[in-house]
Order: sequence, then structure tokens, then C-alpha cells
Amino acid sequence: MTNRHLIDLSSMSQAELSELLNLAGEIRRVPGRFAETCHGKIMATLFYEPSTRTQMSFQAAMLRLGGRIIGFDDPNSSSVAKGESLKDTVRVVSGYSDILVMRHPKAGAAKAASLYSRVPVVNAGDGGHLHPTQTLTDLVTLNEETGRLTDLCIGCCGDLKNGRTVHSLIKQMSRYPGNSFVLISTPQLGIPSYLKDYMDARGVQYTELPTLEEAMPLLDVLYMTRIQRERFSSAQEYEQQKGVYVLDQRKLKKGKKSLRVLHPLPRVDEITVEVDDDPRAIYFEQTEYGMYARMALILTMLEGSERRLEPCPKS
Ligand code: CP
Repeated sequence: MTNRHLIDLSSMSQAELSELLNLAGEIRRVPGRFAETCHGKIMATLFYEPSTRTQMSFQAAMLRLGGRIIGFDDPNSSSVAKGESLKDTVRVVSGYSDILVMRHPKAGAAKAASLYSRVPVVNAGDGGHLHPTQTLTDLVTLNEETGRLTDLCIGCCGDLKNGRTVHSLIKQMSRYPGNSFVLISTPQLGIPSYLKDYMDARGVQYTELPTLEEAMPLLDVLYMTRIQRERFSSAQEYEQQKGVYVLDQRKLKKGKKSLRVLHPLPRVDEITVEVDDDPRAIYFEQTEYGMYARMALILTMLEGSERRLEPCPKS
């Protein structure tokens, strides 16, 4: 990789991304070949926000590659609770590890961490901004399940304002030719204008629709998202938005036979459990692809970063 850190997937060239996707597929098919490739390496996971999939798939990925893991998933159990700054934490932990994976509630935190780290930093989600390794997961899922990342009509449904997974996905899939988007949200939870500008600048087609029913027949991929309670400033505002979009069997019937339904998870009530049995629902498979995606990423980033004991970057 030409870039030492992974803050935003757009910093990777399409060729680098393609290599990563191929590597993830190879790891999935022949996992034993990579079992000791990270022997002696340490990954630190600093999770300032809750996570199941991202944290555990990174940890499982490193363990399956023969490496080891350190870190915290509750900042209150670390010296963050005593008031230690992000900068100091990162400077210290990057001296203990070979790669650092961080989730933080503030947009831009991963970028800030990269300025103080001696080792590569991976953005595992920064507030409502971006979630590049989820997008990597989504790309591996689509590549392995449909064999293509081009000429897809992709529906994004739910909290498109705060949904960092959707922001990363739109940015990345806009880079592949022939893709278009159907954006399904309430006016209050529409995508930020900078993403519309991003698509306009690239000539990417998108339509905004108020209901799932109207969108279903058009879609090759439906990317459902949760209404994120934690991103609302008041409980009242959240109550007004929750439960507006629910994918159930009745709506799924309007979809193409070749439709693929993805969701970064966790879900609350936006997909009914009966949908889980439909072969078009691949969100649980997606979680496993996430581990292979992260194995490929760790391998690539560690290969591209020769560990040297350089002085800590000065602020
Ligand atoms: N998709 C995702 O980021 O899930 P977690 O919050 O469980 O990591």
C-alpha cells in the first residue's frame, strides 16, 4: 500500500484495492496458508465506542494470522478515565504494537491518531464520518457473492445522515463504473450534501425515494442500516425516526431474484427475522467476509510498513 495508514478507503488506488479483494478471497479459500504470516506481530485495538463485529473480527483476523493482540474495549478501564489525551495514548500504545486499530466517537479522531502513531493506524469508525473497513467488508462480500462491483443499482436505506458505513460505501462504489444509487430515507436523515457533491462531481446517478416499496424493484443491492440512537441529540428526535423503514417478506417480494440484502449490523428492528431465511439476505455471511477482509488488510499493511524504532512524531 502506498499509504501507511487507512483512514479513508479513497486513499487506496483501485489497483491496491483489487489486490486486497483478491487476497481476502484467497485467504477465505485457503486459510491455512496464512496461519503463521503475522507470527511475532502485535495488533492494538483501541475501542472508545462499543463494537462486536469490527473489534472481534480484527482480533480473530490477527489471531488466525498467528499474531497477538492487546488493547481496550472500554476506555474507562484504561488511563483515558484519568484524563489521558488521545495523543498521549496513541504515542504510548504505538510503542507497544505493530499496527493500531481505533474506533472513536469523534469524526477525524483516526486521522489525528495517525499524526502521533509510530505504526500504521486503521480507522475502525470515527463518529458519523467513515468506516473504511466495513466498506472493505462490503466489497469483499459483493465481489465473492456476485462476482462484480460494477453496473449495480445500490439502494441505501435508513439513517443516511449519520451512517458512516453508508458514507464510506457511497464514496467507494462511486469509483466503479456504471454504479448508481437509490437513497431511501426521511428528509431529516438524508445523506450529507458533501456526498451529493461527491457523486455529482463524478457523474454518478442517484435518486432519492421516500419508501422501500418504490425502490425494491429497481435494486441489485439493498444496503439496510440502523437508525442510530446514539447519534441523536434528543430521545424525542430518535423516537420520531425509529421504525420508519422495516424490510419484511412482503417488501422483499417486490425485489429481484438476484437482489442481495446487506446490513453492517447490529440491527434493531429494520429487518424482520423472517427475512434471515431468504437466500437473498447475506448479512450474516457478510460478517464472516469481514474477518477475511481484515486479515487481508493486516497482512498488506504490515508488509508495507517495515517496523523501525523511529523517534515518536513530535506534535
Ligand atoms: N458493523 C459494525 O461496525 O458493527 P460493530 O459496531 O458491532 O463493530
